Amino acid sequence: MENIIVIDFGGQYSQLIARRVRELRVYSELVPYDMPIEKIKEKNPSGIIFSGSPSSISGNADGRKPPVVDSRIFELGVPVLGICYGMQLIAYLLGGKVSGTGENEYGKTHINLSTDNALFTGLKSSEICWMSHRDCVSELPEGFKVIASTPSLPIAGIAHPGRRAYGIQFHPEVLHTPSGMDILRNLLFDICGCSPTWTMVSIIESQVKVISETVMGGNVICALSGGVDSTVAALLVHKAVGKKLTCIFVDHGLLRYGEDEQVETTFRKNFKINLVHVKAKERFLSKLEGVTDPEKKRKIIGSEFIRVFEDEAKKIKDVEYLVQGTLYSDVIESGTRDAAKIKSHHNVGGLPEDMDIKLIEPLRMLFKDEVRKIGIELGLSEEIVRRQPFPGPGLAIRIIGDITDERLDILKAADRIVIEEIKKAGLYEKIWQSFAVLPAIKSVGVMGDERTYSYPIVIRAVTSEDAMTADWVRLPYDVMERMSSRIINEVEGVNRVVYDISSKPPSTIEWE
Ligand code: XMP
Repeated sequence: MENIIVIDFGGQYSQLIARRVRELRVYSELVPYDMPIEKIKEKNPSGIIFSGSPSSISGNADGRKPPVVDSRIFELGVPVLGICYGMQLIAYLLGGKVSGTGENEYGKTHINLSTDNALFTGLKSSEICWMSHRDCVSELPEGFKVIASTPSLPIAGIAHPGRRAYGIQFHPEVLHTPSGMDILRNLLFDICGCSPTWTMVSIIESQVKVISETVMGGNVICALSGGVDSTVAALLVHKAVGKKLTCIFVDHGLLRYGEDEQVETTFRKNFKINLVHVKAKERFLSKLEGVTDPEKKRKIIGSEFIRVFEDEAKKIKDVEYLVQGTLYSDVIESGTRDAAKIKSHHNVGGLPEDMDIKLIEPLRMLFKDEVRKIGIELGLSEEIVRRQPFPGPGLAIRIIGDITDERLDILKAADRIVIEEIKKAGLYEKIWQSFAVLPAIKSVGVMGDERTYSYPIVIRAVTSEDAMTADWVRLPYDVMERMSSRIINEVEGVNRVVYDISSKPPSTIEWE
């Protein structure tokens, strides 16, 4: 199988590069930068991409050494593309110079391209691209020429046709570079000579095989939330182990209005897979009493989830494995070896160390939209495939501060209205997530002739492709107006509604 190896230097977008390659139907794998060169060679790559990195070749403020790759990689005779830090690394390893620019360049930039270079075939000589860097290549390595530049960055792209080595300072993998996919297409099909043959069907087949080889006939439980990830994970495992699988749906009391019944009904209606519904509200809420720190909330919930699964596993007997629908975005944001930790996603960073049960995470290398495609391939209904994501820790991370029954009721009622109005406006499937958040402040209002001092509700609605970046939705005013007036009139304890107009980055989608 043709394989494009992405060498991960810890950039937030590393996996996204691999994903973009897969979108072009060529298998791509992410490997750590210190993987021995012999191992890389064994993988017989058709091409190699160097990712970005939070590190700096010109020197890290904390004295940390920048990650580098064995320079024998250039002797494999395989095309290499360096992106951002990856381009600087190529220049550095092959005798060029990298310097600090003195400031961060961040955002959309106009760039001039040499369209006679194979990497840029079919592109315009001036394009828009996404830059995010502090360093730059200040001196070319021998034999390289400049293939891209901006007014403030004379060396924004480099190439050595003989070595088939290329570097670009901008990110072709993010949507903010509109021609990014064309660049990758040129790399894969023209420069590396690949063909588009890798499909969702091949992922399903390989995962089913891996799961049955791992489980070896034992019983398996699956953490089911009703969302697309855990449902797809359950279906994959069910394909591999059949009746040996039991799905466990835990109601931690932090679900949305009516969600517990809805998940159980939908699941039983659609699948013939064993299901246990655990009602554990008291168990979770008592542990969360008085806890306001977001990371603590996540850790408590992650660990309590595992304790519930361990208890259920004991009842079933012979259970060695727990299946979770963990996605790669959860893994990255919980902090991989080199990527910075953003937050502990409950099913990754929030796991306790003393677990009695081993994990199977068949979607750990995949992004949500890939999982949705697998769901469709497995015959999942649109209702489940198109369900907006909901975080494992549930409303706990949308209630800022103390989680009490009163505050949970307020948020559930407001959130229900947000979702109802979004659905009525025909927007539910068009946006990534829409929900309400309850902050830990109060403000003054007037209702009738009375002064009120109550909570505000924050409405958040974002579009996104993979949760790594997101933009706030320009909701129609009439939809916002209906939400606002319904929430203030129907939800006791709320006297103000505000709309969150921040994108990710720099904000995150959830508030905690
Ligand atoms: P953030 O807030 O990090 O969220 O921009 C990115 C996506 O991940 C979801 N999310 C979680 N999902 N466990 C999950 O299963 C978690 O702990 C968690 N935290 C955030 C969030 O809803 C969004 O879709």
